[in-house]
Amino acid sequence: MKNTVATMLKQKQSGEKITMLTAYDYTTAKIQDECGVNSILVGDSLGMTMLGYDTTLPVTMDDMIHHTKAVARGAVNAFVVADMPFMSYQASIYDAVVNAGRLIKEGGAAAVKLEGGAEVCEQIRAIVDSSIPVVAHLGLTPQSVNAFGGFKVQGKTYDKARKIVEDALKIQEAGACAVVLECVPAKLAEIISHKLVIPTIGIGAGNGCDGQVLVYQDMLGLTTGHTPKFAKIFADAGEVFRKGFTAYIEETKNGVFPAEEHTFSIDDEIIEKLEEELK
Ligand code: KIV
Repeated sequence: MKNTVATMLKQKQSGEKITMLTAYDYTTAKIQDECGVNSILVGDSLGMTMLGYDTTLPVTMDDMIHHTKAVARGAVNAFVVADMPFMSYQASIYDAVVNAGRLIKEGGAAAVKLEGGAEVCEQIRAIVDSSIPVVAHLGLTPQSVNAFGGFKVQGKTYDKARKIVEDALKIQEAGACAVVLECVPAKLAEIISHKLVIPTIGIGAGNGCDGQVLVYQDMLGLTTGHTPKFAKIFADAGEVFRKGFTAYIEETKNGVFPAEEHTFSIDDEIIEKLEEELK
């Protein structure tokens, strides 16, 4: 069944958890879709997971459209959400609408996601007025890494927790169809989830959210270097990759690969004729 804004809302109302995973390419999106994930996020985390940057800040609209196109081709039933990259919506409402439109029209996404609260409500309103669903993103918003002074848990003081609650209410009022809550205390995320009509999708925000999202490289053990505390490894594909790559290198070097069954045959007569001619 095709997942939409309406099915996500129904899931919240009935208490059925929403599942979201990141994907950045056709093959991964197709596998996730076949497994039945509700939503696929083409996150600007692709700057780090696919392109090797230290942050998401260098990611461009062209990067996002390129990867969103691939994911959209693999996702039959999943609700595809594409991230609006840094500086594609902050500077003006015009930029926000035009760039959101490109992610839908050229990328094939069904919705866009942008980071921030009160300060981006006008952008959310304008994008929603253009008939494009918007997922908001509060808490640790990675595009603000320099303002935060690092990737840190947000909302731990009363004032900061209160601000996140107020931002959540404002983005809902502006028309957001869901909100990602990243790296906020579990009890705060639970309060917000009860207070909002729209679904909350948590990452490092505990079990009280209406759904969960993870970066797929984190949950498959493919992340090299630091893996965040909240990222449970559900299957160690990193180990499978390493085993496969090492075996290929060894077998190729010692001539075991390719074996008979991996090769194509030709009539002996043709070979004999060729060998005679080439003597
Ligand atoms: O870019 C991304 O992958 C995200 C998730 C971490 C929610 O925004």
